[in-house]
Amino acid sequence: MTPRTYRIKSFGCQMNVYDGERMGELLNAQGMAEAADGADADLVVLNTCHIREKAAEKAYSDVGRLRREDGSRPLIALAGCVAQAEGAEAQRRSPMIDLVVGPQAYHRLPEMVAQVARGGRPVDTDMPAISKFDAMPARRRSGPSAFLTVQEGCDKFCTYCVVPYTRGAEISRPWDDIVTEARALVDAGAREIVLLGQNVNAWADGARGLADLIRALDAISGLERIRYTTSHPTDMDDGLIAAHGEVAKLMPYLHLPVQSGSDRVLKAMNRSHSAESYLATIARVRAARPDIAISGDFIVGFPGETEADFEDTLRIVDDVRYASAYSFKYSPRPGTPAASMEDQIAPEIMDDRLQRLQRRLAEHSTAFNRRCIGKDTRILIDRVGRKPGQMIGKSPWLQSVFVETAAPIGAMVDVHLTEALPNSLGGVALAQAAAA
Ligand code: 5AD
Ligand code: SF4
Repeated sequence: MTPRTYRIKSFGCQMNVYDGERMGELLNAQGMAEAADGADADLVVLNTCHIREKAAEKAYSDVGRLRREDGSRPLIALAGCVAQAEGAEAQRRSPMIDLVVGPQAYHRLPEMVAQVARGGRPVDTDMPAISKFDAMPARRRSGPSAFLTVQEGCDKFCTYCVVPYTRGAEISRPWDDIVTEARALVDAGAREIVLLGQNVNAWADGARGLADLIRALDAISGLERIRYTTSHPTDMDDGLIAAHGEVAKLMPYLHLPVQSGSDRVLKAMNRSHSAESYLATIARVRAARPDIAISGDFIVGFPGETEADFEDTLRIVDDVRYASAYSFKYSPRPGTPAASMEDQIAPEIMDDRLQRLQRRLAEHSTAFNRRCIGKDTRILIDRVGRKPGQMIGKSPWLQSVFVETAAPIGAMVDVHLTEALPNSLGGVALAQAAAA
């Protein structure tokens, strides 16, 4: 049977969200439609993430749960990084999986669905030289904030990380393709574009780097905001740092993972930067843009991490005063060098360190939010709030701001920030404040 409706479930990072959107557009172009909320879909795409914990097991149990009460099931596509890592093995472990498609091959999804309809069980985890993006339909729909993948893959080979294996070598999309897609997104309603890449600041097309691309997008009228994520500390070049001081549309927010504050651990992680060189980069960024919000990623319990190493991590957290952060317990990933290192850390110790780290990070993000009170700023409305008349928008520093306003989703609203809540801010719309 040829499926008519689909549902895509994306897990993990923003790149997966982007990939999920693009797969949806591909299926739409085939005449399929997204299944309505609550309705069964003929095709379910599980767009999986492999970065941490029992990723493969979770994917298989998600597959199992797609069986319906009457015993029937949708056509099931396993996509994303677990698909890449498991390949044909996925169908041996779970016969319910009709097709397996890796992150670099999903432009073939419609064709593979047709093969299943003819009785096939296709698997494609190739990383072809020609770009999947070339096979993609133009962008027609967008919310106020749109993801745009400009770079994929990673050559850094941090010893804990599966990305270089699941997403392959670093590749940059060409300049013209990106600018064309950005314009299409703005025409489709995007006010903000978030440039995505596993190492987005390594993006290059010939002599042009990410800073040049940001300056080109700055010239698109109708586009209000530019962001980018995720960056690697060693690719923060002078041009990109300068752009933070000079490009008005580039938001004052930088996600720059450090992972650990201990040079010994950073070396074992193959991070190619030290705590000191990281701090020096942050200082340069702050000199260019003093109000910038810094965000980071941390791993606790990397093999061999001592209490003293962990305290170095707490110290770097205090030095940087992160506005927000993501922190994780180390999770051994099959096939990565760190998985076979000695001195794996006991789970209780990891739990304890993660708690202590998260407490410290929360103190800093609360302090950052408090320092925003009293500022006038502009937010991009992206959601309807729960209270009547309430809308929620994003500040330049990526906090959610609650405000009473009649402005619709997609509007830019000037607000006076009045209140710091645990994970967000409260504000008053300025036109309203003036009238009151
Ligand atoms: N275990 C724990 N955290 C990990 N990350 C990547 N690989 C692992 C792993 N094996 C974290 C890093 C990275 C973020 C995306 O996920 O902090 O920056
Ligand atoms: Fe993974 Fe390191 Fe590459 Fe980031 S830089 S994707 S953590 S290998």
